Amino acid sequence: MSAERGTLVPLGLTDTGAVFYAVFSHLLVVGQTGSGKGSVIWAFVMGVERMLVGSGQAGWVRFYGIDPKRAELAGVRYGFERVAFDPEEQLDVLNDLVRVMRERQCLGMRSFKPSRELPWIVLVIDEFNSFEVSADLRWKREVRAALSALLSQGRSAGIVVLAAAQQGQREAIGPYRDHFVTRIALRVGSRVETDVILGSGAVENGALPHEIPPASVSNGYRTAGVGYGLSLAQSGFVRFRAPFVSDDDIQAWDESHKSNKTANNN
Ligand SMILES: Nc1ncnc2c1ncn2[C@@H]1O[C@H](COP(=O)(O)OP(=O)(O)OP(=O)(O)O)[C@@H](O)[C@H]1O
Ligand SMILES: [Mg+2]
Repeated sequence: MSAERGTLVPLGLTDTGAVFYAVFSHLLVVGQTGSGKGSVIWAFVMGVERMLVGSGQAGWVRFYGIDPKRAELAGVRYGFERVAFDPEEQLDVLNDLVRVMRERQCLGMRSFKPSRELPWIVLVIDEFNSFEVSADLRWKREVRAALSALLSQGRSAGIVVLAAAQQGQREAIGPYRDHFVTRIALRVGSRVETDVILGSGAVENGALPHEIPPASVSNGYRTAGVGYGLSLAQSGFVRFRAPFVSDDDIQAWDESHKSNKTANNN
């Protein structure tokens, strides 16, 4: 594990109690409404910070957000540099990060070396499907260009994208799927969708996200935050659960960044 220190982000626990890790690179999480994508988003955000503490890079990260539903990131005031809600703001954040990426590329680093002055950047995009369903073709074209640039070249400039989507079909995810190094399926609608998100043969290799029952009051939300991803520790897919993150947890996390930053005007 020591060679991998600083490159793995804990997301939750598997059925045997082992830690399930994502690679610290672009991450796609897909699941129907109420499947617990929020848990995975916060596990990654908080996990990245903890991982950086462990590798002597404490605080060397800036979070950016795109939240079309004004839900998951709406209450954040200090922990994110910027959260974009409406379409023009969303495009503006994407283009800003492309600009940062181009500047960093001019530094000519073979692989990204973070520092206090040159922190990692994590862009969290909730409702990722909204890009593909937009009827505004100019906007959609510009979003696609920026996203494609960030997903194909961002990692080596220290920019990581976490995308959360309700739908995992090819037409819903667009041309981006293969850029995501870690892909996770929470409860999805069909076996076909499982194969599209996780890759053909995923079902044969142990992935059954289409069989996860909906979380509800009657089952005590026991299936929320449950998903399948490729195991880094063994061959095939494993089931894991991201821990529940309450509104209070998020607020406490946010407040802990108060000293770094004055409040957003969002
Ligand atoms: N890990 C978890 N453990 C227990 N309950 C959870 C967990 N994750 C989520 N929940 C419960 O399930 C609800 C729905 O979760 P969440 O909002 O993350 O779903 P979602 O996938 O983001 O849905 P949507 O697509 O509608 O935004 C939460 O409000 C919470 O009550
Ligand atoms: Mg959500």
